[in-house]
Amino acid sequence: MIIKAFLFDLDGVLTDTSELHFQGWKRLAEEEGISFTREDNEALRGVSRRESLNLLLKGRQVTEEQAREMMERKNGYYLDLVQQMTPADLLPGAREIIAEIKALGLKQAIVSSSKNAALVLERLQIGDLFDAVIDGNAPARSKPYPDLFLLAAQAVGVPPANCLVVEDAGAGVDAAHAAGMPALGLGPKERVGHAELVFDSLEHHTAREILAFFAPRRA
Ligand code: BG6
Ligand code: MG
Repeated sequence: MIIKAFLFDLDGVLTDTSELHFQGWKRLAEEEGISFTREDNEALRGVSRRESLNLLLKGRQVTEEQAREMMERKNGYYLDLVQQMTPADLLPGAREIIAEIKALGLKQAIVSSSKNAALVLERLQIGDLFDAVIDGNAPARSKPYPDLFLLAAQAVGVPPANCLVVEDAGAGVDAAHAAGMPALGLGPKERVGHAELVFDSLEHHTAREILAFFAPRRA
């Protein structure tokens, strides 16, 4: 298939906000007397704030009001950490590949489950390099449902089959496939091994190399 657009997840793909999300949830869990480890945090990658809280609570029952308060508290901790971010917090290889895609004249979009994506893009100073930003504020179901990716394909005017999703989360790769899009998974095989192509990170990789991998092969 021919790739005409790159749809980038943000957290854990272009910047390591997954660590900041972990710090925020960990602090909330400690205050609530719930154990929460880095391993537990792996299941939260890519999923919405509400679903993350459900996973963290491990079956503990809370009222709607308590749930809302806990999410707000965690978000406050997270935002404090995001305020300290700078363009230096782009992950290795991210800036180069975004610039290359732009220079090649291909479309690119951010597709994030986060309601804070716009703020993170502002801190990283890369917002103007994208043709569209679809985030957790969109009136759509979160990953692993395909909705956010389908909205992004529409926004950049490229058919889903010609969009390549770049994801660090298993739920994100599932969402890409549900949208009829191939995926480049970043991270260990146990997490993103179901993607068509898997890299440890974007470092030392180019858009041209990725396009060549997905290009239709001549018989
Ligand atoms: C995803 C992250 O991008 O956004 C998750 O991978 C996070 O860890 C989710 O929980 C929701 O983010 P936010 O900023 O709306 O709480
Ligand atoms: Mg992610």
